[in-house]
Amino acid sequence: MKSVDINSFDFAPFKEIGDNWGLLTGQADGKFNSMTVSWGGVGVIWNKPSVFVFVRPQRYTYEFMEKGEYFSLSLMNQELHPKMTVFGKKSGRDCDKYAESGLTTADFNGVTYCNEAETVFICRKRCASDLEHTSFTDSAIKDTFYSSGDKHRMYIGEITAILKK
Ligand SMILES: Cc1cc2nc3c(=O)[nH]c(=O)nc-3n(C[C@H](O)[C@H](O)[C@H](O)COP(=O)(O)O)c2cc1C
Repeated sequence: MKSVDINSFDFAPFKEIGDNWGLLTGQADGKFNSMTVSWGGVGVIWNKPSVFVFVRPQRYTYEFMEKGEYFSLSLMNQELHPKMTVFGKKSGRDCDKYAESGLTTADFNGVTYCNEAETVFICRKRCASDLEHTSFTDSAIKDTFYSSGDKHRMYIGEITAILKK
């Protein structure tokens, strides 16, 4: 992977996040955990290029996102969907998803990411905020996505590096 300049970075978020999917990796206390995500965004807030991801509290990854200062979002090729399904169906509480899938990890300045990614965002957490049901102005959202009463927690991270294959 090579570090790329943010000003020459070209990105198609709907395809690369929504269709191709990513592995979100949180880390804390010398450990890490990754899970599949297909919701999220890339943009600008508080004058910094940023990543936005949404994590339900049931996820093991949530614990790492809460505790850790850094996280990574590794965007993958669609051909890796079968391997990424391991990361989206199983929990790191119960198994070693990297060993089961055959995917591997790498490190950038102490931040763990998926070595088989096409693009990686290395991020420093700046904000963690629950998406409150009372904030939804589209009344269909609550019934469609939160019938069990849980909430997504939004994490906003400043992009500190972008890595490309
Ligand atoms: C395609 C796909 C996209 C997903 N996107 C998200 C997401 O954006 N946020 C989330 O909380 N869970 C998402 N999930 C569910 C988690 O990946 C899944 O619950 C995972 O097993 C959690 O693993 P963990 O307990 O090791 O953190 C997605 C699953 C799949 C298959």
